[in-house]
Amino acid sequence: MSENSDVFKNTIKQNLAPIWSYLEDKTVSEILINSFQEIFVERKGKLERVPAKFLDEDNLRAAVNSVAQSVGRRITDEEPRLDARLPDGSRIAVVIPPCSRKGTTVSIRKFTNNKISFADYIRLGAISEDGARFLDVCMFLGKNMIVSGGTGSGKTTLLSLLCSRIPKGQRLIVIEDSSELQIEYDHVVMFETRQANGVGKGEVNMKDLLKSSLRLRPDRIIVGEVRSSEALELINAMNTGHKGCLGTIHANTPEDAIVRLEALAQGGDGKISEKALRSQVSSAVELMVQVTRFTDGSRRISHISEVLGFHPDGSYHVVPIFQMSRMKRRTDGSLEGFLEPTGEIPTFMDEIVDNNLPFPQSKFIKKTG
Ligand SMILES: Nc1ncnc2c1ncn2[C@@H]1O[C@H](COP(=O)(O)OP(=O)(O)OP(=O)(O)O)[C@@H](O)[C@H]1O
Ligand SMILES: [Mg+2]
Repeated sequence: MSENSDVFKNTIKQNLAPIWSYLEDKTVSEILINSFQEIFVERKGKLERVPAKFLDEDNLRAAVNSVAQSVGRRITDEEPRLDARLPDGSRIAVVIPPCSRKGTTVSIRKFTNNKISFADYIRLGAISEDGARFLDVCMFLGKNMIVSGGTGSGKTTLLSLLCSRIPKGQRLIVIEDSSELQIEYDHVVMFETRQANGVGKGEVNMKDLLKSSLRLRPDRIIVGEVRSSEALELINAMNTGHKGCLGTIHANTPEDAIVRLEALAQGGDGKISEKALRSQVSSAVELMVQVTRFTDGSRRISHISEVLGFHPDGSYHVVPIFQMSRMKRRTDGSLEGFLEPTGEIPTFMDEIVDNNLPFPQSKFIKKTG
């Protein structure tokens, strides 16, 4: 461990003493502080309340301020929100009163360096073997893909996993708000946004970084999370020959995700007509991969869908190729369900055949019974 991270660890240990044991506990993935005396942790995808408490609101606020300062950031009445990455790779989000009604609210998503491979993903039941192979095929063919899912459903984890399947010899440019993707690849350029300083100067946002990245000879552009008007730049990049661009978006279904992408892109250029934008979005995005956090705490891929255009009524034509079967609850409370082919054949089947990829058309046949 470097000297810097030792100093940081001590800062955290002193300031966040009441929750230190949960920060150290490897079974805890997330710590949620709703007020100085209301703290929850997440273990195996399930939330539980814990007895830990800070002395009072001032004590919690001071602790959070010190942590913010240790990463060169501030939380003040003018800037009552903080989203930052800690030196150990964990992510912290804070909102203070009056925006936060109960008191200082904090979430810490702990960094895990357990790399998830497709094999782990299959073992965890997050994807079927054929689903994983199909995603591999799509990565090989350089399909433009959007991973969508709700909060904490596993979008970033899946995006990291997909990046590890990019064929060798390409140049990746990765753009994130606060860096969390763990990408194993030999030619990667990583960009992170910068907030404005105390006098409102020096902001570099996702859109700026996307513009710069287009001039830096990317083979693939990867956007950690599309949450604003940078959606338009991403769509343009996908439509101008940058194959295999990837991004994530917050949405509960693939259909909602693509509509959200369009709405975000609309914010990037008020002048573009709805129809023109819809046609750009539908030709840019080829596949939507939906991740879902289920009630048993598991996180799994629930849909792999192809975007085929849009209907005369303006709705997108999104066709599931693999979809989660109906879930049954086992006696231990866990859910049984499998990602199964729907019977739809992707429109790029000929590309799969022409590239001699080991994924025969029979894999798309819907199972009966
Ligand atoms: N398939 C999986 N099985 C078990 N745990 C998983 C799985 N995918 C992700 N996780 C864990 O779930 C947590 C949330 O994952 P991740 O950060 O990828 O979600 P996210 O959708 O990107 O969240 P956010 O909406 O906050 O950006 C992490 O602790 C991660 O290790
Ligand atoms: Mg994420």
